[in-house]
Amino acid sequence: MSTGLGHEIVSVINKLQDVFTAVGSSASQIDLPQICVVGSQSSGKSSVLENIVGRDFLPRGTGIVTRRPLVLQLINRPATAPQPNGSSTRTFPIHQRLTFSLLTLYTAAQTDSSSDKAANENEWGEFLHLPGEKFYDFNKIRAEIVRDTEAKTGRNAGISPQPINLRVFSPNVLTLTLVDLPGLTKVPVGDQPKDIEKQIKDMLLKFISRPACIILAVTPANMDLANSDGLKLAREVDPEGTRTIGVLTKVDLMDRGTDVVDILAGRIIPLRLGYVPVVNRGQRDIDSSKSISLALDAERSFFENHPSYKGKAQYCGTPFLARKLNMILMQHIRATLPDIKARITQQLQKYSAELQSLGGAMGDASGGNVVLSVITEFTNEFRTVIDGNTNDLSLNE
Ligand code: GDP
Ligand code: NA
Ligand code: MG
Repeated sequence: MSTGLGHEIVSVINKLQDVFTAVGSSASQIDLPQICVVGSQSSGKSSVLENIVGRDFLPRGTGIVTRRPLVLQLINRPATAPQPNGSSTRTFPIHQRLTFSLLTLYTAAQTDSSSDKAANENEWGEFLHLPGEKFYDFNKIRAEIVRDTEAKTGRNAGISPQPINLRVFSPNVLTLTLVDLPGLTKVPVGDQPKDIEKQIKDMLLKFISRPACIILAVTPANMDLANSDGLKLAREVDPEGTRTIGVLTKVDLMDRGTDVVDILAGRIIPLRLGYVPVVNRGQRDIDSSKSISLALDAERSFFENHPSYKGKAQYCGTPFLARKLNMILMQHIRATLPDIKARITQQLQKYSAELQSLGGAMGDASGGNVVLSVITEFTNEFRTVIDGNTNDLSLNE
């Protein structure tokens, strides 16, 4: 049961980000968690990420499709124009926004595909390597990911640790970073080097070793969990399992009469944060451009009608995964509040001292004063949150 406090955390984080941008302090970036996907090739990593974001824009498919890390920064930016189909986020209660912000509200927007174009005015993508160019068409985003991947790695299955950086601005997302990564493979194909397995592993470790990384360890349900490359790698960097979520894909492809119930119950390989079974679009759905909203409907009805899952359908599927992620994010933000406070105070002192050393030279409303007042204002607002009982910051929806 979240109250306005949840909203307060998000707005504090957003403001804090603004302040840090204003003072141009890169040292004080808020270390919001990155969400990374690991698993073997074609286990469904890109599909899982795409479903979470609620937008079609990632290259997916059989074989090695993701060949460079894609660092996707979602950036919350309030809508400047009213959204055309009445699905403006402002009409949703704030706790619902928090709960579903990862899954976003695209589901609502996408049921009316004719409104897609207009709805896009408030959301667009920008690539770091193409400064100033705004992509409103998410198909073109995918095409650019493919183009730049090929430009840097060739067409013949080559890989590169050099990330593609994409920022998506939207009123419907929580400001946070998702990373799509190449899958673990064992045998080199095409132009791949002999030590491809090690190269990919090292690349993944660089991302998932960071304590602020939440790991989605993706394993196809039609494979033996004990053989999961994703879980194995996650365990190397997170042995306690405090930041690893197990994601079981392809539940729809399991043999008749088999299910993942024992895994979910923690009877096979227990995981502190548990497992979430999902059903993504299959290759045929991709080929026929099945929309995400239809895919999510199909996923829901799969779990609701399956004899093994229908009693626990609310703990299955992409929406539950998104809720789980949100909960972990809120926990993380709460845990980092004291540190953020310390850093803000430090900044404040530094800028006060600088201003003082400038003496009265800056009597007008020039930069320094503005920055100082922004920080002061922020600190005051921040204080009410941090000095309040942080235990009140309910993490449950
Ligand atoms: P990645 O290589 O791990 O990023 O995997 P992709 O997301 O590119 O998916 C690989 C292939 O598996 C694609 O053909 C997807 O359509 C298919 N796929 C992924 N998840 C599922 C699923 O839950 N069910 C079915 N039937 N196919 C899936
Ligand atoms: Na693949
Ligand atoms: Mg992929």
